[in-house]
Amino acid sequence: MTKVLVVYHSRSGNTAKMAAAVAEGARNGGAEAVLKKFEEATLEDLTGADGIVLGAPTYFGTLSGEMKGFIDRSVRVRGRLEDKIGAAFTSSGSPTGGNETTLISIIEAMLIHGMVIVGDPLETGGHYGAVAVGAPDASALIACRKLGERVARFAKVVVTA
Ligand SMILES: Cc1cc2nc3c(=O)[nH]c(=O)nc-3n(C[C@H](O)[C@H](O)[C@H](O)COP(=O)(O)O)c2cc1C
Repeated sequence: MTKVLVVYHSRSGNTAKMAAAVAEGARNGGAEAVLKKFEEATLEDLTGADGIVLGAPTYFGTLSGEMKGFIDRSVRVRGRLEDKIGAAFTSSGSPTGGNETTLISIIEAMLIHGMVIVGDPLETGGHYGAVAVGAPDASALIACRKLGERVARFAKVVVTA
């Protein structure tokens, strides 16, 4: 069965709510979804997944140091995440506080791993991933579910098939 790993950091719970919705979407897309805080996720979780979705709060216009540390540790599995499907999500305090630059920073790391990134061309999702301002509202939760479902669908076709 296609496996989608959702890893997140969240200090005050906003990104955590998004992570749960991404995992729900991945399940709706027919995948097994594994939802883990960054402290709990292992390198084996990364190598064992077909799709990987990473979420972090926006800190100073980029991903939180906690999630950056998690990504830095993934250098130990460099070469083993190639061709997996990737996507990103973030919660920021302000709508123009750097949420898209945060998504791009996460996606850059995924590209360096040789992963294949999933975005969204439509207004209902985020072009570079899912975004919430503060706690996710209903439309942000829809975007998160949609992102998870999309990762599951692509992972099934590209990785599992
Ligand atoms: C150290 C720190 C830096 C932050 N920097 C930004 C920022 O640059 N832009 C922004 O819009 N929000 C910023 N915020 C606000 C958080 O992104 C926002 O509160 C977010 O919803 C927190 O997510 P969480 O509940 O998952 O921890 C910052 C918060 C902290 C604690």
